[in-house]
Amino acid sequence: MAVLVTGGAGYIGSHTAVALHEAGRRIVVLDDLSNSSERAVDAIRALTGGNLTFVQGDAADVDLVSRTIVEQDVDEVVHFAAFKSVSDSVERPLAYFANNMGSLVGVVEAMAATRVRRMVFSSSCTVYGEPDEVPVTESSPTGAANPYGWTKLHGEQFLEQVAAVGGLDVMLLRYFNPVGAHPSGTMGEDSRGVPTNLVPYLMQVAVGRLERLPVFGADYDTPDGSPVRDYLHVVDLAEGHVAALDALPANPGCRAINLGTGRGYSVLEVVAAAEHALGRPVAHEVVDRRPGDVARIWAGTDLAERLLGWAASRGLSEMLADHWRWQEAHPHGYGD
Ligand SMILES: NC(=O)c1ccc[n+]([C@@H]2O[C@H](COP(=O)([O-])OP(=O)(O)OC[C@H]3O[C@@H](n4cnc5c(N)ncnc54)[C@H](O)[C@@H]3O)[C@@H](O)[C@H]2O)c1
Repeated sequence: MAVLVTGGAGYIGSHTAVALHEAGRRIVVLDDLSNSSERAVDAIRALTGGNLTFVQGDAADVDLVSRTIVEQDVDEVVHFAAFKSVSDSVERPLAYFANNMGSLVGVVEAMAATRVRRMVFSSSCTVYGEPDEVPVTESSPTGAANPYGWTKLHGEQFLEQVAAVGGLDVMLLRYFNPVGAHPSGTMGEDSRGVPTNLVPYLMQVAVGRLERLPVFGADYDTPDGSPVRDYLHVVDLAEGHVAALDALPANPGCRAINLGTGRGYSVLEVVAAAEHALGRPVAHEVVDRRPGDVARIWAGTDLAERLLGWAASRGLSEMLADHWRWQEAHPHGYGD
């Protein structure tokens, strides 16, 4: 039997594919390469000794996904395939609704047609909107502040409905802020376009691709005025998916679970830690706040520890050192 990883050529999917291989599973990646490169697939192959079947295609294509499930003996699905940029989603809401909801519905339909029940879904802490209290727990209020967030929130609600009528067993994993790269330096983040996340942007400044890191606002109600986030190592996050699949048989139905470290760092703290990891300054400047950014958010992690037996183990300096190893060796991502 095998696990189907939709969006498995992407940043989190590629690391998860390797973690699933290390946990003894056979891997089938389905990706349309809309935000990734076939060289990411090669990197997975190299790290897994070739334990990989790659299918290039759209996760919304029910026939293709059904055929892949049957031909490859798939019995579990991890669904990453989606567009992921908040700012892009504000400019192109229809593309986000169509791709993120379309691929989710397509995969669920294919699972129903082939009687595959177990799924892990990539959700996001964006479903908490601007929280009144931190840490946020799985029972904190939810809301969507932009079209991307809407697709995650409604994706969760759709899966709750399907699970409620007995169609699926699913874990909704609400990721906080993944950073870092595989410690080998051969696999990492390589999204198309200019990054909108702090660490990828910062690393591209460090490597000379971008000039200066904008720090969006230093007048928030936080200790140094810059926004505070819960950063977690992408390999910890990948291992969280293995733990979620392992926990599904004993926890049928539908559950939302936070995957974060439970501690926050401000943007300026991350910049200082990166400068320390790199051994040199990184050009940055404080600019106006960016619409849609929340002041502070970090995860309550009790449920992940209790239900999945999972806790993040890698600290900020390891995240930054690993991210830098990848970026320094691949200044232009997989294009190099
Ligand atoms: N990176 C983050 O900060 C973050 C945080 C929370 C949640 N998430 C979610 O985690 C998932 C993975 O994120 P990521 O950072 O690895 O993004 P990514 O863009 O690197 O990976 C997504 C992959 O899905 C593929 N894809 C997109 N639409 C597809 C479709 N219709 N059919 C087949 N493949 C398709 C892309 O080519 C890409 O390889 C996404 O669902 C994202 O919304 C990411």
